[in-house]
Amino acid sequence: MGVIDEVKQRIDIVEVVSQHTTLTKSGRTFKGLCPFHSEKHGSFFVYPEQQSWHCFGACNTGGDVFSFVMKKEGFDFGEALRSLARQAGVTIPTRFEPEPKKDEKERLYQANGAAAQYFHHLLINSPAGEKAKSYLDSRGILPDTITTFQLGLSQNSWEALKQYLMERDYTEKELLEAGLVIASENGETHDRFRNKLMFPILDERGRVTAFGARVLDDSQPKYINSPQTPVFDKSGSLYAINLAAPAIRQQNQAVIVEGYMDVITAHQNGFTNVIASMGTSITEKQVAALKRLTKNIALALDADAAGEEATLRSISFENTLDVEVKFVILPEGKDPDAVIRENKQTWQELIAGALPVVDYTFTRDESSAVDRLLPLIARIKDDLRRDRYLTKLAKLTGIDYKKLEAASQGYLVRQDTRRTKTATAVRAMPPLLSRPLEEECLALLLQHPELGDSTGGLLPEYFEDSQNREIFLGWQTVSDPTSLKEKLDASLWEQLERLINRKILATRIKERYNQYALRLREEYLRNLARKRAISSSSKTDPDNTIEVVKPDEQDLETSRQLREVFLQKASQGWERGDRK
Ligand code: UTP
Ligand code: MN
Repeated sequence: MGVIDEVKQRIDIVEVVSQHTTLTKSGRTFKGLCPFHSEKHGSFFVYPEQQSWHCFGACNTGGDVFSFVMKKEGFDFGEALRSLARQAGVTIPTRFEPEPKKDEKERLYQANGAAAQYFHHLLINSPAGEKAKSYLDSRGILPDTITTFQLGLSQNSWEALKQYLMERDYTEKELLEAGLVIASENGETHDRFRNKLMFPILDERGRVTAFGARVLDDSQPKYINSPQTPVFDKSGSLYAINLAAPAIRQQNQAVIVEGYMDVITAHQNGFTNVIASMGTSITEKQVAALKRLTKNIALALDADAAGEEATLRSISFENTLDVEVKFVILPEGKDPDAVIRENKQTWQELIAGALPVVDYTFTRDESSAVDRLLPLIARIKDDLRRDRYLTKLAKLTGIDYKKLEAASQGYLVRQDTRRTKTATAVRAMPPLLSRPLEEECLALLLQHPELGDSTGGLLPEYFEDSQNREIFLGWQTVSDPTSLKEKLDASLWEQLERLINRKILATRIKERYNQYALRLREEYLRNLARKRAISSSSKTDPDNTIEVVKPDEQDLETSRQLREVFLQKASQGWERGDRK
């Protein structure tokens, strides 16, 4: 069995999703609040038998465990595979590791480095720099700090940086790839960053990977950042890690804040173990990178960001990555920048008083803490850690340890039966591992360029399997197999080869393709209707307030589309009959 199939068999989607939202079982499904959009009533469902998920709310989309992790962590397929493989204890063969295109990347680091120098020079020496410097001064940033962080200024111009770097032999293509210039619709390119305060983002080895840029007034958006590039992965980067790494190692603690200014003020005041997640929720990749420096992580996030999801995630990090995550409770409406500037001492006290996740959850809402924590504690695999959490909870609540333990074991038993059931269900359904119709359709597209670029109405979401979905998405941008292979993550190559070499009939290509595409659409719609039916039947649970958003409208839309499919099928049949 291939690695991807092995991961699929070993991983339970219910468990993976549970790391991001609280799921409750209801009949044959699990339901909860959608982890992708904010909602009051759950419209997010997980189907253990099919190992798939669907959000019937604002997202109105779904997929398998890979697509879930991709969407949640901002991973590409290969990254999702590696992350899940790690959780499942499956070793990935090295041929699946992406090939480093070393020289190309080196050029991008250099281009970014040259841009950082250019921006810094402008801030320090140009007349336009005066206004920016007085802005920094008004925020209490000292000249030394400007140097340490290599802060800069981008000119109020469409081409200043582009010209500067092209004179230094960087190609337009390289500048596009580095995210320093962008192409407009007419194909012309211009500087991405204009008239902004520039924060270069460096990796641990001191290479400039990207920029954050702030407006110099109150306009919106306040910040823009470099896009995802071959040298910058936002979800895996931490601002100022280059400066903070020694202190983090030495103090054996890292403090994660949200913003650039929070980091800068902290460092200027001697708190040099501070880094920023740059406004996104903390990801597994960021924690995994930090783990090399320390296992003690404190999150100083504002109350919104440190809510339910962050708690769930931190427990999952503690569980899978074996780190300790603590929460710093910031005064209402203040960020670390404001706290530190007001009083250094307060910050020190806040950090010293950072709470472990159990205590933090308890502090936030005493009444529901036990209900919220016990299912999470039950999932903790390490006996010692679980015991420590239970002891803590017993102490905080005054509930007898034995009672809490028994209650948490109740969760465990329920989970175990669930897992065994799911596992058997997976094994009893081999079609999960190979989807013949999806593969036949893709094989036709890949092997018969004469089909052209038209997909016959095929949409990516019709592919339930993420591998097939990714290959289809790739094919939509580059159809010739060699370029497609280059574009795809190496972990998808095996499946791509399989499809390219799949033996298929060489007759009635176009006709068969249209039939398969139509059947795929039909299967998708039927499956969707089935899923929605299971989900809305669970609505009647008296103790739950799950609401499927506008089920009637969505039902109507699905039936309308299914009718369309029948009509098309009928017309295809008619055409065939006619020709004979
Ligand atoms: P904040 O809005 O809290 O900004 O966003 P801030 O850091 O306190 O900025 P100042 O103090 O007004 O200068 C926190 C972080 O979220 C990201 C940035 O990394 C920012 O530092 N962010 C915020 C963006 O990427 N884009 C935005 O539009 C806003
Ligand atoms: Mn701020």
